[in-house]
Amino acid sequence: MAPHTATCSAPVNIAVVKYWGKRDVPLILPTNDSLSVTLDQDHLRSLTSAAADQAWPAGDRLWLNGVEESIGESGRLRTCIDELRRERRALEEKDSSLPKLSTFPLRICSENNFPTAAGLASSASGFAALVSSVSTLFELSSSVSVSELSRIARQGSGSACRSLFGGFVAWQGGEAADGSDSLAVEVAPREHWPELQALICVVSDAKKGTPSTAGMQRSVATSPLLAARIANVVPQRMDTMRKAIAARDFESFADATMQDSNNFHACCLDTSPPIFYMNDVSRAIVALVEELNRASRAAGSGAVAAYTYDAGPNAVLYAPKQNVPLILQLVRHYFPNADFDDTFNLLGAGANASHR
Ligand code: PMV
Repeated sequence: MAPHTATCSAPVNIAVVKYWGKRDVPLILPTNDSLSVTLDQDHLRSLTSAAADQAWPAGDRLWLNGVEESIGESGRLRTCIDELRRERRALEEKDSSLPKLSTFPLRICSENNFPTAAGLASSASGFAALVSSVSTLFELSSSVSVSELSRIARQGSGSACRSLFGGFVAWQGGEAADGSDSLAVEVAPREHWPELQALICVVSDAKKGTPSTAGMQRSVATSPLLAARIANVVPQRMDTMRKAIAARDFESFADATMQDSNNFHACCLDTSPPIFYMNDVSRAIVALVEELNRASRAAGSGAVAAYTYDAGPNAVLYAPKQNVPLILQLVRHYFPNADFDDTFNLLGAGANASHR
């Protein structure tokens, strides 16, 4: 018999209210809620195939961009796979006619169409695609909701939970010690705000210096500013952001997005020893967008664009569609060497699947 297989892709998501800090490291429980926008499938996505066959030698195996990675006895990959197996076993116990896929060895193959670990959220799309493909292979769609899958993806990489949905997505940090309420929910579908576009300026595709987990642990341990962000800044900002999205209010969305990016990077700088994710080109893009917005507002028009930066130097710019040609022209003029994506329909649906 041929192996059972499923293929899924999941896009990257870029947070506009950032997640930074874990209250429980093994379970990946965040210190604050976060909110992101899921980009479209064509530009930054992971494509993952999962297969199971009784006849294969025991043990699960995984290849990332053609190179085999060890799954190990413990660790994030193992946790996600074990959780999905548990859900499959529950189905098999209810219906004895189902093939016992939960007992078959798995082979998983994943590819990114963009640089891995360059601050472009590859772990988010990677774990979202892995969870989607294995859950599709295990036919869990009727027994496990997308939010429940997001809870599993969260244990691979925190931000991955948000890539299970398209459009505007919140990760509710939750309160339970076991993480049962720490999952993603849809805030608004992509179609709610089609004019909003994203432009990614790849300032550098080198691997990032401080991995996010190590950076977060250091910030939680040493940054008083991060403690203040968690207690006093994020709750209000989540509220502002939800309202801005509901009203499709770009002025408010842009201000909150840029303030949150700056606050997050200030927390990195406040960490001891400090963490620098942005570089001189990143800061020059901040200056350009700030000046554009100032001039546009002074002329009686609204903000032109909003910048945001994750754990790396690359800028993501959000802007209403009609502003994109101007932004593109200016970015090309001032940063002739930057490599950026010039197709702008960048916001899209979450993980999706094909199943054989
Ligand atoms: O999920 P991780 O460990 O890759 O952390 C991502 C953290 C940020 O990208 C900096 C912010 C976010 O909310 O995505």
